[in-house]
Amino acid sequence: MATTRREVLRGLLAAGVGGGVAGLLPASRSTASVREFSTSLRIPALDTGRLQDNVRIFDLATQAGMTEFLPGRSTPTIGVNGSFLGPVLRFRAGEQVSINVKNQLPFDTTLHWHGLHVPAKADGGPHQVVTQGTTWSPRFEIKQKAGLFWYHSHLMEHTGEQVNLGLAGPIIIEDEESTALGLPFEYGVDDIPLVIQDRRFRADGRFDYLSAMPDMMMGFKGNVILVNGTVSPYFDVRRKRTRLRLLNGSNSRIYNIGLSDGRPVTQIASDGSLLEKPVQRKTVRLGPGERAEILIDLDANSTTTLTSNPDTIAGGMMMGMAGNSETFPILQLRSGAASGGISPLPARLIQVPNWDPAKANRRRSFRLDMGMMGMMGGRGGMMGRGGMGGGMTINGKAMDIERIDERVHLGAIEIWTVQNPTPLAHPFHIHAIQFRILDRNGAPPLPHELGLKDTVLVDPGESVRIITRFDDYADAERPYMYHCHILEHEDAGMMGQFIVTA
Ligand code: C2O
Ligand code: CU
Ligand code: CU
Repeated sequence: MATTRREVLRGLLAAGVGGGVAGLLPASRSTASVREFSTSLRIPALDTGRLQDNVRIFDLATQAGMTEFLPGRSTPTIGVNGSFLGPVLRFRAGEQVSINVKNQLPFDTTLHWHGLHVPAKADGGPHQVVTQGTTWSPRFEIKQKAGLFWYHSHLMEHTGEQVNLGLAGPIIIEDEESTALGLPFEYGVDDIPLVIQDRRFRADGRFDYLSAMPDMMMGFKGNVILVNGTVSPYFDVRRKRTRLRLLNGSNSRIYNIGLSDGRPVTQIASDGSLLEKPVQRKTVRLGPGERAEILIDLDANSTTTLTSNPDTIAGGMMMGMAGNSETFPILQLRSGAASGGISPLPARLIQVPNWDPAKANRRRSFRLDMGMMGMMGGRGGMMGRGGMGGGMTINGKAMDIERIDERVHLGAIEIWTVQNPTPLAHPFHIHAIQFRILDRNGAPPLPHELGLKDTVLVDPGESVRIITRFDDYADAERPYMYHCHILEHEDAGMMGQFIVTA
């Protein structure tokens, strides 16, 4: 195993945990050994499974391998049906899907279907451990809107470590409503997934994880950006209009993505569905776990760069420390021979499901806390879970896999308020459902947030209300998770469990 628990611990000790804020690493880019935009963007394999008795069957194997990200340096990694990350799984709404997850790793893992509306026993969370050498075969129906989703490891206390090593991949769901819109849909040609992640490399080529003091508190930040596992990639645009499906698959980094030439992009989808209407945006801000689909229109023979700009919203005093303050290129787009036309988009894309707040059966609130402020003050704080996580809690409680925190009635419409009294933005994610954002500090959501979501960035001092209905799947024993999608926060306890019962 590339990064053992002991190694992580040793790294932490070497970095002088407890030594105060002085251990901060500047998150500057160090892609020195890679020429900028010299590598063609890697396009993940498209896996559409095989149809057998009306069930779409997928065979996935989690495995360890070596991946060359930097020339001449091999990095031990893990992936699905390959050495790093995994294929795009494409499902169609209404169909039955069965996935065989064969764990060929030398350790236990799980595969969680982030954003999918599935029974708790098929969710792939911390309760569905796939032990070393075994195969787990969840089966479920695709009962949701078209969109970009993803799968990733969700092993209790090891999610950050396993996702960092590479255990993640995209899922595309299509439905009739979305394909009828005439949006770019040719996979790898004008419909391109971009899994955006950041990593740090050690001199021996290995990924560096949790070796710097702020990694646990602020969340792990890398100084090399990977897009589908490619360092500093370019993409030869084939059509004048290209659909980019953006997935922030990073452990903790927030991206603020736009074009280097300042032209707006057209956002058409959020996490769990298309938007009601296309929205022109200068930049698209994505927290860990969040997705957005954008359309880029380019004339032939032009070059522009998809770029991440500093995240000023979560900013203030904490911005530098949170490490979201850099500007860096994500993907160079070269439209040398782009063909095709650019037709006007429909004014209305889809009708996004919504729920009437007046009909809510139940309200709950969730307060996100980090013990870090104690740490900032000098003592205490750092001695949370595992002696180093700080007090990462929700409603004052750190995750306990034996404890059910919330019980939801099947079919209930609920309003959840998520409060963030901390100085960092937290991406709050709920399993099993898609929700709508009702308001942020009382203000209605902006047009780009008028789609289905499963993860929402809650900014410092903010209180965000979401609404959803818990349909279809009851299970009196097996819970679903809700948690911060900064994986180091999740692993340190900023997670809770709910069950849905009939
Ligand atoms: Cu993306 Cu609970 O996970
Ligand atoms: Cu999830
Ligand atoms: Cu968090």
